Amino acid sequence: MPIFQPEVETMPRPELERLQRDRLRERFGVELEALPEQPFRVKSELRNAYPFGLLQVPLEECVRIHASSGTRGKATIVAYTRADLAAWADCCARALAAAGAGPGTVVHVAYGYGLFTGGLGLHYGAERLGCTVVPASGGNTPRQAQLLEDLGAEILCCTPSYALAIADHVSEPGSLELRAGLFGAEPWTEGLREAIEVALDLKALDIYGLSEVMGPGVSAECLETRDGAHVNEDHFLVEVVDPQSGQPLPDGEVGELVFSTLTKEALPLLRYRTGDLASLTREPCACGRTFARMSRVLGRTDDMLIIRGVNVFPSEIERALLAIPELSPHYQLVVERPGHLDELTVQVEGTVDPAEVRKQLHDALGLTAQVEIVEPGSVSRSEGKVLRVLDRRSA
Ligand code: DLL
Repeated sequence: MPIFQPEVETMPRPELERLQRDRLRERFGVELEALPEQPFRVKSELRNAYPFGLLQVPLEECVRIHASSGTRGKATIVAYTRADLAAWADCCARALAAAGAGPGTVVHVAYGYGLFTGGLGLHYGAERLGCTVVPASGGNTPRQAQLLEDLGAEILCCTPSYALAIADHVSEPGSLELRAGLFGAEPWTEGLREAIEVALDLKALDIYGLSEVMGPGVSAECLETRDGAHVNEDHFLVEVVDPQSGQPLPDGEVGELVFSTLTKEALPLLRYRTGDLASLTREPCACGRTFARMSRVLGRTDDMLIIRGVNVFPSEIERALLAIPELSPHYQLVVERPGHLDELTVQVEGTVDPAEVRKQLHDALGLTAQVEIVEPGSVSRSEGKVLRVLDRRSA
């Protein structure tokens, strides 16, 4: 499988570490060894600097603005110089190449275009690679399915939940040319990966990123192993830290992802805390890339639900649900507090006795939840980032 920029993507690790060390010193005047002593940056600092307070170059040198899709409070504005956009396109081109795309491959981008980084990020990456881009953006789902069929796209880029929504409108998965999909922007599980692969007859790959650091393409999986997303370490230095103590954790341990940007001009960030929980490995990968790989995002430091004292992440519930073959991957979690106690209701489409699901959730997670089996099609479908948890406690 061709690698887009083999000179960096397969760079021997000692050389890569030298490059990171030089770039860190050049950008921030910080030695690699001194990194763990540097303070963290957090999202609220970016929000408080709204809109352009943290820009490190004059606004005239920025050629693009995006914003994070946060639902809480004001959006976080990010900006890019021409060089920032070029680096971003490279990262997304690497991700697409790792999914088997190349010059001439038809790539269907159904991430939203606009302030959200998903659409334009992958769009420019696909152009950079020489692909033929279909800039479908999100929405009008029946037409998405029709375009996939008519234009013969081989690669699909959208959120995993939207991939399932599109699959609902595909009459015959065999009628599509799809080979692979780059799915991200929201948490998903191995169970969902399997469901999408069956529904669309393709290989589903994880792509990760966040606006503050760049957008999609901070890391992405390769088709060879689909076992962790390669972090573009020539541009981003990645750490995993204990969310409580902030102390760096060794490879293999789950903690909060922290990124330092090594090349960004407009909005460089040293030790940005993502709130995303994952682990890292630097074991060699069969694809030949030497970049560290991150696990799936297993949850966020701020989306942990505490239901009657039991800590649970929505992704754990998804894993337990999808282990039950009679359930579909369409579900929603509703949290309420009718009296003094939290109550969780799991609404899921399928054909099974709710008592059975209730028991499985209890056995797998120690969780007591109400279970409602609902009609196929009744859980609302997403067109972008899905809203899995309806928290009615604050209402
Ligand atoms: O979601 C960028 C993106 C677009 C990534 C398209 C991948 C594909 P934001 O809107 O700023 O940026 O949201 C960033 O989304 O901190 C994670 O919590 C979550 N996220 C992104 N990718 C994944 C993923 C884009 N593959 C936030 N798995 C991040 C799980 C993800 N969560």
